[in-house]
Amino acid sequence: MIANTTYTRLKEKLSHVVPDVELRYKAEIADEIMQLKAERNAVILAHNYMEPALFYSVPDVVGDSLELSRKAAACEQDVIVFCGVRFMAETAKILSPQKTVLLPAKRAGCSLAASITAEDVRNLKAKYPGVPVVTYVNTYADVKAESDICCTSSNAAAVVESLGTDTVIFLPDEFLAKNTARETGKHIIFPTRMAPESFDQQVEYEMIGWQGRCEVHEQFTVEDIENARRQFPDVLVLAHPECSPEVVDAADYSGSTTAMVHYVKQHPAAQYLILTECAMGENIAAENPDKEMLRMCSIRCPHMNEITLEETRDALRLNQYVIDVPEDIRERAYRAVKRMIEINAKD
Ligand code: 13P
Ligand code: SF4
Repeated sequence: MIANTTYTRLKEKLSHVVPDVELRYKAEIADEIMQLKAERNAVILAHNYMEPALFYSVPDVVGDSLELSRKAAACEQDVIVFCGVRFMAETAKILSPQKTVLLPAKRAGCSLAASITAEDVRNLKAKYPGVPVVTYVNTYADVKAESDICCTSSNAAAVVESLGTDTVIFLPDEFLAKNTARETGKHIIFPTRMAPESFDQQVEYEMIGWQGRCEVHEQFTVEDIENARRQFPDVLVLAHPECSPEVVDAADYSGSTTAMVHYVKQHPAAQYLILTECAMGENIAAENPDKEMLRMCSIRCPHMNEITLEETRDALRLNQYVIDVPEDIRERAYRAVKRMIEINAKD
C-alpha cells in the first residue's frame, strides 16, 4: 500500500520525464529506503544532480553544495546518508564528526577534487607567504585543511571579497577562478604545477589560480549555445560557473545549481538550455511542466551517476561506505568550512 502512495506521488511528478515501468520499480526501492531510514534514525541529503526518481522520493533535503553543508552542520539524526560525491560527504563529516556519514558508492570522486593535493597547496603557500587561500569545496579534507576559507559556486565572490586583501590564492577550479576574478575585478595568474620554481614574483597579480577543471562543465562550448539559439531564438541559456568564461559570457545567466533552479521558476520564458549535469535539467523539467528544458545528456558526471536508489538502500542496509576524516585534518578543515558558512549566514 505504501509503495502505491510513493508510486502515485512519483507518477504525478515524473510521468513526462521517467517511463512508468521504471517508476514502479523505483517506488518500491524508495519505500524500502524510507523504512530503513526510520529504523536507523538517518537523514538523507541529496545534491541537485541526483536522478529524478531518487531526487523526488527519499531525500529529507535537496540542494547545492552550500545548502547541503549548512544542513549537515545542523541535522540531529545519528546517520547522514549523502547522495552526492565523496568531497560532499567528507564536508558533512567535517561539520558533524559525531555522526555516521555514509556515501552510497565506494568512489564517487570528482575531477576537481582529484586535481590538487595538500602538498600542492603547501607549495603555493611557501611561494606566496601570507596570501590567504580560498579553496572550492570540491576538494578533499586534507586540501581544505591547508586553506583559510572554503567557498562554493554560490558564494565564491562574496568569500573572496570578505577577506579584504589585495591578493588571494583561489583553488583548484581554473574556470571558477577566472569567473570570480572577473566578478570581483581582480587580475588572475596561473603558476604551473609542474614547475613551481617558475612562479613569477614580479607579475602583477591579485588572484593566483590552479588548473583544475570539471570534466563535465569544461565540455560545454560557445558553439553549443549558438546552435541552440539558432534553433530556438527565444531560449534562455543557464551556465554553471564551472564553465569557461567564454561560455558564461555567451549565456544569459550563471549561478549555482540551486540558483539555476530558482531562475527557471521565476522566469516566464518557455525554453531553457541548462548547461550542467543532465539529471538536473530533468529535475527542473519535472517541477516546471509548462516549460521546456533543453539539455545535453551526452555530457554526464560519471561520479554523481554512481549514486542510485539501489546503492542508497544498500548504504543503509549494510552501513556502507563509512566516511572518516582523521581528527587532526578534520579540525583544520573545519575552520575553513565553518568560516565560509558564517560569512554566508550574514548575507
Ligand atoms: P553546486 O554547489 O552549484 O551545486 O555545484 C556542485 C558541483 O559539483 C557542480 O558540478
Ligand atoms: Fe565534480 Fe564536475 Fe562531477 Fe561536479 S559535475 S562532481 S564538479 S566532476
